[in-house]
Parts: sequence; structure tokens; C-alpha cells
Amino acid sequence: MIKIIILIIFFKILVVKGEFSDGYGGGILDSSAECSGYVGDSIEQPLCNNRLYNGGKKIYSTIDSSNISSQEISKVSILKSFEALTFLQGQCDDLLFTQFSICDLNLSPCIETTPLETPLKIISLPQRLCKSVCERLVSNCPRLSLKIDCSISFMFPKLGSEYNLTNYGYTDNGGMYRVPCIDPTEGYNKVSNDMELIEACPYPILLKNSSDPKYSPDKGYTYLPPTNCVLTCPMPNYPKQQWQQVFNMAKSLSSISFVLACYNIVTFGILNKKKYTKYNICITLMSASIALVYLTDIIKFGYGIEEFLCPEPGRSSVQDDAVCGITGAMFHIGITYCCCWAMTMSVVLFCSVKRIKLFYFRHFMIGNTVFTIISTVILLSAKKMVAGTGYIECWVRDRWFVVSLFWIPCGIGLGIGIFCIFGVIHEIYNISKKVNIRESQFIIRQIKPFSLVFSVAGSFLYLFIFFFDVERKIDGYKEAVADYVMCLLNGGTEETCFTTGPNYASFFIFYFFIRIFGVLFFAIYGTSRIARDIWSETIFDEVRSRLSQTSTEIGLSRNNSRNSIKLSKNTNKNSNNSNNSNNSNNSNSSDKNSKPEN
Ligand SMILES: *[C@@H]1O[C@H](CO)[C@@H](O)[C@H](O)[C@H]1NC(C)=O
Ligand SMILES: *[C@@H]1O[C@H](CO)[C@@H](O)[C@H](O)[C@H]1NC(C)=O
Ligand SMILES: *[C@@H]1O[C@H](CO)[C@@H](O)[C@H](O)[C@H]1NC(C)=O
Repeated sequence: MIKIIILIIFFKILVVKGEFSDGYGGGILDSSAECSGYVGDSIEQPLCNNRLYNGGKKIYSTIDSSNISSQEISKVSILKSFEALTFLQGQCDDLLFTQFSICDLNLSPCIETTPLETPLKIISLPQRLCKSVCERLVSNCPRLSLKIDCSISFMFPKLGSEYNLTNYGYTDNGGMYRVPCIDPTEGYNKVSNDMELIEACPYPILLKNSSDPKYSPDKGYTYLPPTNCVLTCPMPNYPKQQWQQVFNMAKSLSSISFVLACYNIVTFGILNKKKYTKYNICITLMSASIALVYLTDIIKFGYGIEEFLCPEPGRSSVQDDAVCGITGAMFHIGITYCCCWAMTMSVVLFCSVKRIKLFYFRHFMIGNTVFTIISTVILLSAKKMVAGTGYIECWVRDRWFVVSLFWIPCGIGLGIGIFCIFGVIHEIYNISKKVNIRESQFIIRQIKPFSLVFSVAGSFLYLFIFFFDVERKIDGYKEAVADYVMCLLNGGTEETCFTTGPNYASFFIFYFFIRIFGVLFFAIYGTSRIARDIWSETIFDEVRSRLSQTSTEIGLSRNNSRNSIKLSKNTNKNSNNSNNSNNSNNSNSSDKNSKPEN
């Protein structure tokens, strides 16, 4: 529940000097004032229709220098007061009566009297709320006493107001004309049973109906209980241009990472026909799963990120929005599988450095896949894929689901990964002390996978810390929404009021790290000698097959002889780099042969 001390100015305080009778407050005569009917509520915002004293037939009205009716100005301040009252629900009693009183306070009933001397223009005078009414308001809601001072007799006279009409020929009571104060209680009692509190939400917060199934919180509306006000979407944590920065970063980095991850898949998974090592499988599957994550970004930005996150004003996407459900599942599969294979890779690395054979690789394959599929199915059947507020993708926002199905397994994997990395570091240290050249060369070969695991584990560690830091502070963020509402109630705007969320820089880095993996994998693996070998072999094979085609069809020609020179260069280079690159014709059989080795 939101606790708010209202700071809205309910009325302007005027001090009238002079001597008035006991129980009466002073009044100032405005000869341009008129008694006129209530201008009425605007269609979209109910205010004081049916809530005014005497049905609002005569309201004290003036016109200011720019031809704006005082009633219109009053409506603005009534709306402001209603907004504040909306957030006082649950803290104050009888707010409906307060609304009636606020209407009468701002749209004063009007009394007309005719001058006893020329000019005979009718005099219009406002009727004030009685002090007893004011006291009832404050006793119902002590917080109001911060803004309403019932001792001001100009606003809240005990009996009425006195106007000096000496100049209009009045002589009774020393020329002081008396206007009785009003008490809306009677009228209120008649109609209050059929009426509900009017809720109003300060812009840009929107008013919905939480008891209407169409606008239920399950549909993606974030209510500010006990009100029916919903937060804007995306969450007003950061200014618009900062959100835009995150979007732009995600868009460009995801595209780059996607392309680079695809390059890795092509290199290690498709072109690499000869060496299905454990590493290569890990790299391929890590790249494929992370590419899936970037693919969700590409889909989102193709669809339009704002429409994706917020399909309707104030509503954030939920699983039933097809694009959210689909990208959520893809994101979860991608990020979980990637995490699994990062762990697998560090275990494989550790085992090969230690020269131990702990597990069958096949078991990792089955375990990783089964875990990923099961957790995805659980989340989808529980309908947990939502965009939430303050995020840029559809994923799990339910604390216990995401902790038990992602962060804890991922944390365990991360722990195993870090343990293995330290095992590897220890091994490097031991070996470098011995200065055995062959062994150290062997270790140097492990540096790339080592740095890959290290940077991935480091990034995951950051994501881990960020997530739990946000979870730890989430109640604080929720409480701070009250400050945001206060800021809006005090006349703040979208540009000046923000909810409290995670620090922008760490938020930005969080999303940056998720999207940098593709670049990371490319930098470490896509540029490695193994990758270069795969490509040069492929090109070699291609040239060779073209060559053999050409030679069988046309026979030897000048072009052919030129190609064969290049070819022979390639052959030399490849034979230096790799031992089994020359036998491309029987690549399939060597493929089959090499698999069981791993
Ligand atoms: C004020 O508004 C009324 C009608 O709303 C119009 O007749 C009148 O000319 C306006 N006066 C000025 C000074 O704009
Ligand atoms: C009422 O106004 C008249 C004229 O302005 C003034 O002479 C008189 O003292 C005023 N009466 C009171 C009670 O202030
Ligand atoms: C909210 O929805 C419920 C259920 O549809 C309805 O009974 C109620 O009148 C609505 N409230 C408002 C203020 O529209």
C-alpha cells in the first residue's frame, strides 16, 4: 500500500483584515462576480456533477483577465485534490464526503442580492463551508490538517461571512451583509449510498479498473494499490532518452552478436567436418544458444520495441501476447542452454588439463538439453513469460520461478565453472614452475578456452550479482513509488519525476553483458587458428572441387594452371597447420572415425 502525505494546495488563502461579528468571517466583494450554473464535468473526467450543494444551480463565478471562467480553474484544482484523495484511500475515512466538500469548497454556492441604491447591478456573493464541516474532514483524515486549516474564518466561518455593502445602501448591522455558511451533510446523506469515490490519477499514471477482468493485473497492468491507478509502460525508472539508449545498444549489439554467433556456428558446426572435438561442440552449441537470444532481440526490434513491451497504454506484455510468449521461450532456452554449455566447457577444460576422464560427454549433452527443455515447459505452462516493468525482454519475472529454475541452477553451474577455472590456474602454475616446454605449450593452447570461460563466467557473475541486488532492493523500489506519486501530485511531469529503479549504469551494463557474448565468443574462438584452418580447408576444398569439375569438363586451360599454383600454396599452408587436411575426399569417413574419440 502506498502511503502519501498530500501536499496539494486545496485552496488559496486570503487574509481579510477588519472587524467582524463573532462567528462570522470576512468576505471581499467582487462586483464582476456572477452566480451561474455549474459548467459541468468534462466527458472523460467525472468531478462534481451531482455532488454540489443545491445541485450546483448557482455557483459563484468570476472571469479573469484572459477570459477564463473561475469554474474552469476550480475544476483543475478539484482534480488535483481528487488525485491526492485517491492515494489517501485506506488511510482516511469517509473520503466520499471529503470529495463532496472539496466540490463545495472550490465551487462555492452563490447568493444574490439587489443593491438598495443605484447602480442596481445584482451583487453575487459566495457561501463558504462551515467550520464544523472542515473539522469533520480533518477528523476523518488527520493528514488533511497539514493542508487545511479550519481556523481560517474567511474560508471556514462558524456561522457565515460578512460583506461590507455600505456603498450599496445597506445600513442594517452597520452595513455588513451576512451570508450563511453551508453544510453539505444533508445532501450528501441523501445520495451517498448510490455513489462511489471518484478516483483520479496524476498524469502520466492511468486510471483502470482492477476488478474488471479486462484490466486485471494478470493482463500486464501494474496497479498502485489501493488505487486503480496503473503505472505507465515502460516503467518510468529512467528518462525517455536513457531508455532509448538501452534500446539502441540492444538493437545494434544484438545484431552484431547475432551475425558473429552465426559465423561461429557456420565455422565450428557446419564447415568443420573433420574435427568434432568436445570444444568445437561446446562452441557451436554455446554460439547457437546465444544466437537464439539475439534472435529474440531482432524479432522485438523488427516488431517495434515499444509495441512489444507495451502493447497498450499502461499494459506490459504477457505470455498471451504471442510475440512475448515466443520470444520469452526462445530467450529462456538460449540463455539456459548457453549457461549449461559454458559450465560444460569449463569442466571439459579442467578434465583435459588434469588429464582425467570424469564423464561421458554424451551425458552432458542429454543433461543440458533435458534441463533446458523441462524448465522452459514448466515456465510456459505456468504462464510466467512476461515483459514486466523496467525490463527490455519477455522472461520470467516471478521471483521464485526464476530463482529456482534459472539463477540457482545457473549459479551452481557458475560455481562449478569457477572451481574448474581455479583448478586450471593451479595447473598452469604448477606446470610453469617445472618449465617443461611441451607441457607449457599445451597450456598455452588452453588459454583461449580459458579466457572464454573466464569472461563468460565473469559476465554471468555480474548478471547474477545484479539480479540478486535488484531482488534485495525490490521492496525499497516499490516503496519509492510513493515518492514518484508525490512528485506527480506536486505538479511534476514525466520529465521531472521518476520511480526509483536500479542504478542506470549498472542496468545498462547488465543488458550490455548479455549482448556482448556473441562478440566475445567470436573474438576468442572465431578468430582462433582452428577457425582459420577450417575456413582455409573449406576454401581449399571448394577450389579443388571446382578445379576437378573444370578439368573433367574442359580439360587443362590457362585458368586451370593458374588455379593449380594457388592450390599448391594452399596445400602447403594447410599441411603445416593441420595434420589431416589433405584428405578431403574421405572427410565423411574420417568424420565418423573422429567422433568416438571424443
Ligand atoms: C470572452 O468570451 C465570451 C464568450 O465565451 C466572448 O463573447 C467574449 O467576446 C470574450 N471576451 C474577450 C475579451 O475575449
Ligand atoms: C464599510 O465600508 C465603508 C466604505 O468603504 C467604510 O466607511 C466602513 O467603515 C466599512 N465598515 C466596516 C465595518 O468596516
Ligand atoms: C469496475 O469493474 C467492475 C466489474 O466489471 C464493475 O462492477 C465496476 O462498476 C467497475 N468500476 C468502475 C469505476 O467502472
